[in-house]
Amino acid sequence: MASKALLERRAADVPVQQDKDILAAAARLAGEDLCSIGDLSSSEMRAIMKLGHDVKLNPRDYRHALDAKQMVLMFEKASLRTRLSFEAGINTMGGNAIFFDQTNSPLGERESIADVARNVERWVDVIVLRTYAHDTITEMAANARVPVVNALSDFEHPCQALADFMTLEEHFGSATGLNFTYVGDGNNVCHSLMLAGVQLGANVTIGTPRGYSPDIEIVTKAREIAEQNGCEVKLTQDAQAAAENADAIYTDVCVSMGMEHESTKRAPIFRPFQVNETLMSKARDRAVFMHCLPARRNAEVTDAVLDGPQSIVFDQAENRMHAQKALLLLLLGGLANVEKFSL
Ligand code: CP
Ligand code: NVA
Repeated sequence: MASKALLERRAADVPVQQDKDILAAAARLAGEDLCSIGDLSSSEMRAIMKLGHDVKLNPRDYRHALDAKQMVLMFEKASLRTRLSFEAGINTMGGNAIFFDQTNSPLGERESIADVARNVERWVDVIVLRTYAHDTITEMAANARVPVVNALSDFEHPCQALADFMTLEEHFGSATGLNFTYVGDGNNVCHSLMLAGVQLGANVTIGTPRGYSPDIEIVTKAREIAEQNGCEVKLTQDAQAAAENADAIYTDVCVSMGMEHESTKRAPIFRPFQVNETLMSKARDRAVFMHCLPARRNAEVTDAVLDGPQSIVFDQAENRMHAQKALLLLLLGGLANVEKFSL
């Protein structure tokens, strides 16, 4: 496992304040939105991760980077990790989080999304949204003059993918050339992981039941990026084949939030896609198990795998905070307040 020592060595190679990817991303991303992981180039993704590693190692350097910045979290769906990692993250950089529960009053119902945007931008510096419709996020982004961040929609979960690939870098040193396998529903998490994986040069294999493949536009885009980056995207309906030679096997719930009415129908369809010890044994010996969480224990993954030695699920959860801190620093121009960057 890529230990703290490895990360410290890597950090020592090129100081973050001189890293050209980080400096270019700081200039390009200030004031931008993150609706899709596809909004980021390969070098911007690498920049977020490099900064995320530094934030994790040296949190005190960033203690006042976002002093007095206000972040609103407007969530139409439940959350543990995303809410708390954003709140703790901004609090540890001097900013403040305001949680606005939209679970009983979906965005756009009481007033138009454009009008919400034109109000909220007057009070806060960044809007973090968790929604059903992906269009709610793009519409907010089109109308707000402050950055809008997708904290999960029905179509994508970009912040999750940033943390997950940061975790893979931590574990393996680099994501480039890794065999990354996702088995289960071709859903929001799957979409963001596919795009993030190929941006970083990983070979991405997706194993889903028939009828539950990822969106064709995402597949096409991922294949285009993969071609540029010398890696590949494979789709299969055979979970065992998907797991062969994998360095990482990732799964998610087969019933996402908002799809609960399909639970009974989906359970038998997804049973062959359960990640259990037999499936893990098809992967490489060094393989890790990943899950965005929350997990439905002994449905999409067994206890033995989730709690086993190959599982890195809680490192993923921890890294949500560090990766999002890096993202917020770049979107809000926070590096200007970090001494080592402004010298
Ligand atoms: N992985 C994730 O987004 O978790 P929450 O739904 O708890 O935020
Ligand atoms: N696919 C899941 C992810 C939860 C973090 C959902 O949308 O409910």
